[in-house]
Amino acid sequence: MTGQARYAADNHPPDMLHAVLAGSRIARGRVVSMDIEAAQAHPGVVAVMAPGNRPPLALHPDDKSVPFSFCLDLLQDDRVRYAGQPIAVVIAETLEAATEGAALLAARYEAEPVEVTLDAEEVFVPQAVGVGDPGEFWHGDVEGGLAAAARRLEATYETPQQFHNAMEPHSVVAAWDGDALSLDMPTQGLALTQMRLAALFGIRAEGIHIRSPFLGGGFGSKLLTGPQVLGILAAKLVGRPVKLVLRRDQMYGPVTHRAPTRQRLRIGATEDGALTAIHHHVRTAVSRFDEFFEPAAGISRTLYAAPAIAITNEAVRLDTGTPGFMRAPGLASGSIALESAIDELAQACAMDPLEFRLRNYAEVEPVSGRSFSSKALRECYAEGAARFGWAGRPLESRQMRDENGLLVGWGVGTATFPAHMFQAAARAVLRRDGTGLVETGAHDMGQGAWTVFAQIAADSLGLDVEQVEFRAGSSDLPDAGIAGGSGHTATAGSAIQAAGEQVIARLTELALTDPRSPLFGAGNVGVVPRKGRLVRWDDENRGESFADILARAGVAEIEGHGSGAADTAMAERYAMQAHGAVFAEVKVDPDLGQIRATRLVGAFAAGRIINPRLVRSQYYGGMIWGVSFALHERAVLDPRTGRVMNADLGEYHVPVNADVPSLEAILVEEDDPHVNALGIKGVGEIGITGTAGAIANAVWHATGIRVRHFPIGIERML
Ligand code: MOS
Repeated sequence: MTGQARYAADNHPPDMLHAVLAGSRIARGRVVSMDIEAAQAHPGVVAVMAPGNRPPLALHPDDKSVPFSFCLDLLQDDRVRYAGQPIAVVIAETLEAATEGAALLAARYEAEPVEVTLDAEEVFVPQAVGVGDPGEFWHGDVEGGLAAAARRLEATYETPQQFHNAMEPHSVVAAWDGDALSLDMPTQGLALTQMRLAALFGIRAEGIHIRSPFLGGGFGSKLLTGPQVLGILAAKLVGRPVKLVLRRDQMYGPVTHRAPTRQRLRIGATEDGALTAIHHHVRTAVSRFDEFFEPAAGISRTLYAAPAIAITNEAVRLDTGTPGFMRAPGLASGSIALESAIDELAQACAMDPLEFRLRNYAEVEPVSGRSFSSKALRECYAEGAARFGWAGRPLESRQMRDENGLLVGWGVGTATFPAHMFQAAARAVLRRDGTGLVETGAHDMGQGAWTVFAQIAADSLGLDVEQVEFRAGSSDLPDAGIAGGSGHTATAGSAIQAAGEQVIARLTELALTDPRSPLFGAGNVGVVPRKGRLVRWDDENRGESFADILARAGVAEIEGHGSGAADTAMAERYAMQAHGAVFAEVKVDPDLGQIRATRLVGAFAAGRIINPRLVRSQYYGGMIWGVSFALHERAVLDPRTGRVMNADLGEYHVPVNADVPSLEAILVEEDDPHVNALGIKGVGEIGITGTAGAIANAVWHATGIRVRHFPIGIERML
């Protein structure tokens, strides 16, 4: 770690101005007046951008004709749709002057009544949830299965709104040169962002150059174009480069968040613990003006072998910003409910919760009968349990105490996340001197994408990492697709691999057809690239260097192109999921109710692991978010004003180091010949699933108190 990564806001082009957002203090209604003159008169203020003078756009901000568009608030009118919505932008010579100018606007409002809770009266049924999951799904005889069950559970679990708190807030440094736009801006989807901006401004996508070499976290919030567009508009208004950085409190409005859920689980099992049916019903929330439905019940389609499975959804409209993708969307919320319910049913069957999960192990995908492309979950359970020391866990709650008299509990949760693939392209070049250049517009959000892609690039060319120059993070490179859905390594990695293979195929052609080459005629044997040389597959000592082949052929360099995308035939034939098992220990103070996660062991199987250190770090990050989900994180919205009352890291609790337990992540071996050419599944998001439920279950085991309302607070322990 060097601290050398430059974020967008670290850039200061000459003549740059600072922009500051002014956000609405009401959640619904209209802005009646703003003292624009007072702001304008403040020393250093250059301009105030408001609906009256905002430069025109080619598309209405609510236009969704570009794929993956969400409605934006770009000062199109005086309406307010949620608290914190941008209502003006103040542009000044200094950040301080812009901040003071924004305060001087002293907006006055006409407020209307708001609804910000799941108790909203008007409920409707969405057609689809997430990205195209069916809104309703029935498989087998659910009611019959429940009726026939010897043990039944019907319980409601509730998860709160969570807001994005990446280390780096959304930001942009924008500079116009005629119709050409130059941006330093963190994004998880360079080409996607370029396309949306081109449509919004009515300019050519190729005229927009976005540099996004490093992001200080994305977690889904930087996939889609957001309020940074206001910084770009501000630069247009003043004709100078402009920097806009959201303040921490401004992250609780216009940049999407995790929707709240109320989930009703109805599940049944036979006397000896075989599931007979699962019905997972979700109530979630969307904004008043746009739609993203948290697909929280989706996990119940794939995780346990029940003969009957139903998923139903309903939603309410709230006066908040639109929910969106947030780390393990759907699965994080759904997992904590399902894993709690499974635990409760195991308890009803008087079975060890791990044994109960094994009893209902899905050998094939339950709803489709398809085989899994690979599934080493059984090994995850076994290796995780052994490492944690699960054996001998008392069945009943409140059985264990530590040396200080704290109640100790152990819980388990199953983790899973689908193996997604998107579209990507890459370019590889073998240079005359035998070194390589590989390019793709990949995104590094802290997960180590630069490192792992450079490794794949070097492998594909048969070179050492030091011999390959790897370029990423810029929109003028081949489109690497999105860094989302835990699919970046599989997707962009496949494109890189294919580009390298094409280079090697062309090089091979040169050598095999040249009578002067020691490889001449080795075609039937096959040749492979090794350490800068092309060698016979059956004898690595026979071959010649890349540089020699190029020199003799008189070729300056060889270029290859590759693409990565899902193999749709395979994706139809196989269910593709990563899996894991997480074991948690918590300690609860019997007098104070204070809860601490003290130990987590996660065992995960996610196909081929390119870089164990980076993968372990991803699992740790996910497991820590699981701790956060179970015990810490919650936005509190004031039902009278619709405002987030804890819009800062002082009161919106995320784990600090002192909250993070001893962590262990086990990389369980899994060979997947079907998922993609590299055999890679995603590792980024799976760690949240499983972990949150394991902790909730451990809290029950410690105390005998089953909390179905998350995060589990101290007040529920007393
Ligand atoms: Mo994600 S929601 O693509 O971290």
